[in-house]
Amino acid sequence: MSDDFEDTVNEIREYVQYQIDSGLRYALAPVVSDRLSPGRLDEIREQIGDCRRCKLSGSRTNIVFGEGDPDSRLMFIGEGPGRDEDIEGRPFVGRAGQLLTKMIAAMGLDRSRVYIANIVKCRPPKNRDPEDDEVIECIQFLDAQIAAIQPSVIVTLGRVAVKALLGFQAPMGKIRGQFYDRNGIPVMPTFHPSFLLRQGPNDRKYKGMAWEDLKQVMSLLNLPLGRGGE
Ligand code: URA
Repeated sequence: MSDDFEDTVNEIREYVQYQIDSGLRYALAPVVSDRLSPGRLDEIREQIGDCRRCKLSGSRTNIVFGEGDPDSRLMFIGEGPGRDEDIEGRPFVGRAGQLLTKMIAAMGLDRSRVYIANIVKCRPPKNRDPEDDEVIECIQFLDAQIAAIQPSVIVTLGRVAVKALLGFQAPMGKIRGQFYDRNGIPVMPTFHPSFLLRQGPNDRKYKGMAWEDLKQVMSLLNLPLGRGGE
């Protein structure tokens, strides 16, 4: 083995070991995702077809591809379709979706001007978290969507999206409020709207934190900081 090659192999070995030690199970996903070239959104949808690549396909009604402005500078990425989304075939159309739509409006934007997608495109039974094999199979399409849209910033909603896109697991309260990098794109993790809806008397506190996160995103996008928030 040449020295260069051996160095590279050792670097990769150390990198993978670091991921395993840190519990970063999805950090290898971008490599898997290179299977698919970016293409246009309609081409990506065509490649998904009547997908049977993972077990979620057995119980879904509709594939929820994602929707919005293909030229948007801002993408929101949730976890996976719930009941309403499965029925309609559109992301974030249930109660959580209504809150997300309000959050987007508070940023001074219309929902149609951003792009909204999920880590997995089929509803996990009983809204359980998507499993590793399902994420690994599906995320190649999300990566292709991201590559096609080329957003300036991504907002991840909830811990499942953080784990899948950034490769780590930690309480949202600890990781939110700062940008991370995913293949050169800044990623702002914030609370999932379903979590915000469950907070009862604490909801102002958590909604306030989510609003702080969105304000950082607005300033990165040079959007005017109005009043906003709830
Ligand atoms: N929750 C999600 O994570 N995504 C949706 O599309 C709806 C609810």
